[in-house]
Amino acid sequence: MQAKKIVFLPGDGIGPEVTAQAEKIVQTLIQEGHDIETQTALIGGAAIDSCGTPLPQETLSLCKQADAILFGAVGGDKWDHLELAKRPEAGLLGLRKSLGLFANLRPAILYEQLADSSSLKLELVKNLDILIVRELTGGLYFGEPRGIQKDVNGEREGYNTYRYNETEIRRVARVAFELSMQRNKKLCSVDKANVLEVTRLWREIVDEVASEYPQVELSHMYVDNAAMQLVSRPKQFDVILTGNMFGDILSDIAAMLTGSIGMLPSASLNEHKQGLYEPVHGSAPDIAGQDKANPIATILSLSMALRTSLDLEQPANRLEAAVREVINQGHRTADIANEGLAIGTQKMGDYINAQLYAK
Ligand code: IPM
Ligand code: MG
Repeated sequence: MQAKKIVFLPGDGIGPEVTAQAEKIVQTLIQEGHDIETQTALIGGAAIDSCGTPLPQETLSLCKQADAILFGAVGGDKWDHLELAKRPEAGLLGLRKSLGLFANLRPAILYEQLADSSSLKLELVKNLDILIVRELTGGLYFGEPRGIQKDVNGEREGYNTYRYNETEIRRVARVAFELSMQRNKKLCSVDKANVLEVTRLWREIVDEVASEYPQVELSHMYVDNAAMQLVSRPKQFDVILTGNMFGDILSDIAAMLTGSIGMLPSASLNEHKQGLYEPVHGSAPDIAGQDKANPIATILSLSMALRTSLDLEQPANRLEAAVREVINQGHRTADIANEGLAIGTQKMGDYINAQLYAK
């Protein structure tokens, strides 16, 4: 059997600090005898600074050959003046598109021990466990034509195009139905079918796919209502399926409900189960380089990678158990410490790593 390949893309801000903790854990797994090869490459602002582009060719080709990519974060003030195509975010978007990572899985889970950190009352979020499936390579983010141009009056106008074809809708819908089958068999598809043609088609295709999954209870909801329901009655949801732009917004809301955005992993998959795994939080430039960031979202992203793209179910389970154990022992980084004493990024990584050894 060929070694499994993981490419680390630390990126910017707190990205390098949090991915370093996941690297430690991979080293532990390698020492245990798992056949994993790792490489590290540049992305985002770090890549702009050293090679003038947010997604260097070398990074792209390494990623194409990888089974899993572990991504930190990109972006920061330093690169904010750049035009869209040259910004750090373009590196991430380019990677998603080039690898065809169309299905973005964003779980929002409330950790009981951290329930105090939620912005909602405990009874509304207790045992919250939602999975957002966001389409990631189409829709408003990638639709052509796009640009800023002069209109007939010589005034500038900006425009983007919201489009989805049937194939794009069908394949992400199938992923959402499959995942619903493994969970509570309840799927809510979110659209704006009362206004936008593209989402009328979305609804039609999702209904079509639903006929292949008669056990799944499917509902449809307009996005404005979904935003409201997420903050008023979040527990009505199990799996939410939506497009790229709506998913960007709703997944931030869902993450915040758990009060622990520093704990949430995500996966972006293509049809070969090759995946890019990243923490839901961003680059957090305000705390970068200070050993304050919570590495758990990245470590749990690694466990998703082990399970889904590397076929290492057992180490993934052990790693998740190790994270739970360390939380149970009361160790907290600043974001989840409330008033209590906080430990740093490296220490948290070390505790989890040591716990993994012990398992
Ligand atoms: C996300 C982020 C990205 C997005 C940015 C960094 C391009 O907000 O992953 O949700 O908009 O998709
Ligand atoms: Mg976002």
